[in-house]
Amino acid sequence: MADVVHYSTSQMADPDLAAVAAYLKSQPTHAAEPAAVTLNPKVMAAGQAIYVDECSACHAVDGKAAPTYFPPLPGAAVTQSTDPTTVIRFILSGTQTVATDARPTPLSMPSYGWKLTDAQVAAVATYVRNSWGNSAPAVSAGDVAKLRRKVAKTPVQKPSARV
Ligand code: HEC
Repeated sequence: MADVVHYSTSQMADPDLAAVAAYLKSQPTHAAEPAAVTLNPKVMAAGQAIYVDECSACHAVDGKAAPTYFPPLPGAAVTQSTDPTTVIRFILSGTQTVATDARPTPLSMPSYGWKLTDAQVAAVATYVRNSWGNSAPAVSAGDVAKLRRKVAKTPVQKPSARV
């Protein structure tokens, strides 16, 4: 996606961007009838504690962060996707915004794979997926362990060089 933003969408004319945004916003964010989510209150409490310690400095306690700097987590489609792979991957490996001509300085999210256990990553992922009005199936320690093994085999992708 970084290459798409860097070489393509950041170079698009505003009316084209507005048209793509209008189309994306017209798409449903949830299945019409989301399945009821069962949450373990102990896991949510553990997730909240980790979130406050590790994540709130950037994303803020209410998840809303500073708009245009860090993405707001309430209502975020990536965060609430039924498949939690992207959220787990962000927490394990960290991520970085893409440098564009308009915003040349990228902002980074650190990796937590070295610091948090599978159960802790699962708890904080479950917390962000089910706070501030968000709703998505809980993440298990097994989901995290599986992705951790895959990530270990994938070479770290370097941010794309600026031209
Ligand atoms: C130093 C700042 C920083 C910290 C600390 C941080 N993040 Fe992030 N986070 C970011 C940035 C920057 C992005 C956006 C990256 C991008 O645009 O691809 C991001 C993106 C995300 C996203 C994707 C949101 C979306 O809609 O694309 C999630 C989910 C997330 N962070 C969760 C967490 C969790 C959980 C923690 C704590 C374990 C955490 N972050 C800690 C800076 C941070």
